[in-house]
Amino acid sequence: MLEGKNIILGVSGGIAAYKACELVSRLKKLNANVDVIMTQSATKFVMPLTFQSLSLNQVVVDTFSEPKYWEIEHIALAKKADIMIVAPATANIIGKVANGIADDMLSTTIMATRAPVIFAPAMNTNMYLNRIVQNNIEKLKSLGYLFVEPAVGRLACGDIGQGKMEEPEFIEQKIIQILSSKSDLKSMSILVTAGPTQEAIDPVRYISNHSTGKMGFAIAERAAARGAKVTLISGPTKLATPEGVQRINVISGKEMFEKVMEHFKQSDIIIKSAAVADYTPAEVSTQKLKKKDDELYIKLNRNTDILLELGKIKGDKVLVGFAMETQDLIENAKSKLHKKNADLIIANDLKVEGAGFGTETNVATIINKNGTAEKLPIMSKVELANIILDRASKLIKRT
Ligand code: CTP
Repeated sequence: MLEGKNIILGVSGGIAAYKACELVSRLKKLNANVDVIMTQSATKFVMPLTFQSLSLNQVVVDTFSEPKYWEIEHIALAKKADIMIVAPATANIIGKVANGIADDMLSTTIMATRAPVIFAPAMNTNMYLNRIVQNNIEKLKSLGYLFVEPAVGRLACGDIGQGKMEEPEFIEQKIIQILSSKSDLKSMSILVTAGPTQEAIDPVRYISNHSTGKMGFAIAERAAARGAKVTLISGPTKLATPEGVQRINVISGKEMFEKVMEHFKQSDIIIKSAAVADYTPAEVSTQKLKKKDDELYIKLNRNTDILLELGKIKGDKVLVGFAMETQDLIENAKSKLHKKNADLIIANDLKVEGAGFGTETNVATIINKNGTAEKLPIMSKVELANIILDRASKLIKRT
């Protein structure tokens, strides 16, 4: 089942290292090629010879005594990996990677690989729940690293709580799931914007809209699951970061514009599902505005139209915009497509049941720059996300 797949297993120093032996044996039975990298402390728990016998490959153990071998080897392994798994992952290795420290074979290989990396943490429950460890895990997740959460149970130290490394069978399933998922977008970089923006009036008030971000998050999740490198620039939402997605949080339309511009160059497809506020207060009061007896007038300035600006510089990139309308859906969406030089506009009629903010479904018509309007039935946002990705990826010009 995993024939021809190169799996790198990083073993860091914890009692759960013995479970990593079973993981190697399971992966070998599925015909994967497994290379094991051990940290020095891991060798105190399991002998390298054990992994060598199970993997039928040389085990790489951290050693600074042979720097040349070490430097070349980590790049070679990092390059050939289809997936990398760190099991058990101690607080130490998680902390190192989260903070950019690459001072041994395992941490440098993680840093050098472009393959998906899964961490299977194993540690004492208080350590696992420590805010520092949790912050590091959050940071790694937001950068696209994957996690197999530890189970709750009786730990080696006698404590009961979360921190037990997941069973090898479970980790094996996760590896299979990732390696066998449809990877038709593998060579693509996709930039997605999502959610509302908040335009500050004063330190406690802002102007915003009802966008929840569900459509954009569904697109980001599907794109990552189909193998794309995904950057999600999101306004304030309550949604969790989809697995494998690099997320950048912004508040205002101005901030979203700046972040989109930063990431535009590296992207093949840009999908602008964010509901960016069209206007922003001309002045943001530094103090809370106190109420007075007469009316309050707030002067609003136009926010930069991000899609319009991208349309001017898009070149070969595929640009997808959204249009939310309450009347003349097709005409308005077509004129948006031309005005903003987009390749596709996903048009929603807010008056149709099942479309719009906060719902799990959407009813869309896809307007293509070739003049077609593809009317789709009501479907889940996840299904629509897949169709948008199908249509957008078809428009990429291959050289
Ligand atoms: N958009 C953008 N930057 C803005 C406003 C909108 O990039 N400042 C993008 C949205 O992400 C969406 C598309 O433009 O992809 C359409 O947004 P919409 O607000 O519906 O259209 P407008 O062009 O603002 O037109 P109108 O408000 O007149 O409907």
